[in-house]
Amino acid sequence: MITEARRAGDPVDLHLIGLKKSYGAAPAVRGVSLDVPAGKMVSLIGPSGCGKTTTLRMIAGLERPDEGRIVAGGRTLTDGARGVPPEERDLGMVFQTYALWPHMTVTQNVAYGLKQRKRPAASIAAKVEQVLGIIGMAQYAGRFPGQLSGGQQQRVALARAIATEPGILLFDEPLSNLDAVLREQMRFEIRTLQRRLGITSVYVTHSQDEALAISDEIAVMRDGLIVQTGKPLEIYNSPRNAFVAGFIGLANIMSLGQPECDDAALAGRLNDGTLVTGIAPAKGLRGRTVVKVCIRPVDIRLDTGRGETVSQVNRLFGQVTAMTFTGGLVDYFVRLAGGEEVRVQATPPIVAEAGAPVTLSIPPTRVVVLED
Ligand SMILES: Nc1ncnc2c1ncn2[C@@H]1O[C@H](COP(=O)(O)OP(=O)(O)OP(=O)(O)O)[C@@H](O)[C@H]1O
Ligand SMILES: [Mg+2]
Repeated sequence: MITEARRAGDPVDLHLIGLKKSYGAAPAVRGVSLDVPAGKMVSLIGPSGCGKTTTLRMIAGLERPDEGRIVAGGRTLTDGARGVPPEERDLGMVFQTYALWPHMTVTQNVAYGLKQRKRPAASIAAKVEQVLGIIGMAQYAGRFPGQLSGGQQQRVALARAIATEPGILLFDEPLSNLDAVLREQMRFEIRTLQRRLGITSVYVTHSQDEALAISDEIAVMRDGLIVQTGKPLEIYNSPRNAFVAGFIGLANIMSLGQPECDDAALAGRLNDGTLVTGIAPAKGLRGRTVVKVCIRPVDIRLDTGRGETVSQVNRLFGQVTAMTFTGGLVDYFVRLAGGEEVRVQATPPIVAEAGAPVTLSIPPTRVVVLED
């Protein structure tokens, strides 16, 4: 075991191994294992109640796992009943509610953790000035939290978290109290700062946009378990099942009957017999008589009428049932000849209104077979 103290600023790797936690008889986390490489940002994403906060609190030492281990930079933070106390775990946290001390100024809030660590006054002052500079809050140093906007308060919370130069940063939905514009700006700032400082980070969110934009890797959780882990593009392009497909990005989940596949390609039929081809699943069909596939609305091309100009492969005929224009995109809801409903997103102009007959075409490489 490595016992040497980490040099401030050195990133650490973080490993969660088989974490379990129940509250009474109700399991909140049912066996979570996750590796966060040094200096990387991993998002935990999943619906409300799936165990994200509980997982984060176990890393922080605010909650004791029933089973499992947490190892950071070679140091065991918790192993069954034994655990390093939170204040000795060398991490910073940023919460949804900024949790600033209301009676302390910005400077005092940011200095708080450094004082607790008994750093010399001169080095505290220098550090506070430095981190307030980094997050662009130097001019607000003397204000109280009540005199700041939500975004500014969250910046102070971030400054406080990085001031002690922790090995790990933990974020729990830090932007969910901010309005949409500020949220986007702040997530960009957090990501830039995290990269620049190279602090290993775990970021809890239930926003897919945030997870996709901010992470090196995403771990999708459901019912206390991680369903899939991967880089944002991997998860988006190759979701394992309908849950992941629908949680990360918009998805049409369609059933294909009479599936057949070889090493490269899959073929199956829609309700009206139309042949659809896609990517062969890595594990083959394993005797399935129906397969579910994921097709992203943005991957479907929509043409009016019989679509003479589009590719002959994966051509589906239908009728627009609804159309909405949302600025950058046009959303079409199409009922296919066999009754399936498909959503299509295309860039303007609007080419078909409700009632119009249309032809859809889909590149086979964008038809992904799901495991369920
Ligand atoms: N202190 C507690 N006592 C009892 N049950 C708890 C406690 N904390 C969490 N739970 C339960 O554990 C489960 C997981 O909760 P957790 O807070 O980890 O979810 P979450 O994924 O963070 O959800 P959200 O997105 O709503 O924040 C939930 O069913 C929740 O009700
Ligand atoms: Mg939570």
